[in-house]
Amino acid sequence: MPAGINLLGLLSPPQSATLSICTMPAPYDLTGRTAIITGSSSGNGRAIAIALAEAGVNIVGVDLNPHQPKGFEEDQPQTIDLVRDIYKVQSAFVQGDAAKEETWEKVVAAALQLNGRIDILVNNAGILGKVGPLHECTLAQWNRIMDVNLTAVFLGVKAVMPTMLAQEARPGSTRGTVITIASNAAHHGAPDKAPYCTTKGALVSLNKALAVDYGRQGIKSITVSPGIIATALNAQELADPSKCVNYRSQTPWPRFGRVDEVGSAVLFFASDASDYCNGTDFNMDAGYIVA
Ligand SMILES: NC(=O)c1ccc[n+]([C@@H]2O[C@H](COP(=O)([O-])OP(=O)(O)OC[C@H]3O[C@@H](n4cnc5c(N)ncnc54)[C@H](O)[C@@H]3O)[C@@H](O)[C@H]2O)c1
Repeated sequence: MPAGINLLGLLSPPQSATLSICTMPAPYDLTGRTAIITGSSSGNGRAIAIALAEAGVNIVGVDLNPHQPKGFEEDQPQTIDLVRDIYKVQSAFVQGDAAKEETWEKVVAAALQLNGRIDILVNNAGILGKVGPLHECTLAQWNRIMDVNLTAVFLGVKAVMPTMLAQEARPGSTRGTVITIASNAAHHGAPDKAPYCTTKGALVSLNKALAVDYGRQGIKSITVSPGIIATALNAQELADPSKCVNYRSQTPWPRFGRVDEVGSAVLFFASDASDYCNGTDFNMDAGYIVA
């Protein structure tokens, strides 16, 4: 029994008079676990990699490009070098398209080389895709956003699940965790973004199905659904204040979010502190959806 007692410990008879139910384990020490993060080179994915690495997680990044995009601190170290040099965790990078099956063979091999486990899968890579009325969207544009935002998640789960199912559960905790970055656009009709909204809504549904299918085997599944976070994904839109004035004014706390706030949310769900959560969609948008 560790010095602290976790929530599962409350079900067991105390083994020592010195145990206190107020004493919690350090939930954010995830030393030695391994996470795969898609879209790790910029924006939310980079912040997620940093948040997890700070907690001791080894990082396998997957991205089309190793660098941050133009205009976004391109002179800063690549994510995978940053987490290795600053947080001293092991790291690997696979350059490839998360929507292609062959990428996932390389990703799983790279992850298993680190310490033989895959504890956390973060499906983060995503694109906004075609913006405008749906009837102006071509089939090719529609298919690409479905591939990147949705099919890539299917492929990631398909590739990683055999390893997660085969590995031992962590003592008193999970066998593995799947965290998917959806969006609050899953829950409202964001103007001119029908394909994007469609994929994000589907991810929230997929998450519930994963929670049911794999929860019994100790694998928890979560979606994190941010509002507007200033990244390369929406740089064009945010450069035109008239496009987001309504969004901002309709938000009870009228501000946009930051990538480090998405990183913090993912860290919580990657940690044992959130082990009673499964199938949860965590909306984080300063109250926009509930207003
Ligand atoms: N920025 C926001 O306001 C916001 C809000 C809600 C949800 N999200 C979600 O957050 C996730 C990350 O977006 P972001 O805002 O950080 O954008 P971003 O453009 O800064 O980062 C996306 C990263 O994914 C990579 N990527 C794109 N397609 C890929 C593919 N097919 N395979 C591998 N990598 C690929 C890009 O190269 C990039 O590094 C997305 O799923 C997005 O939908 C963003």
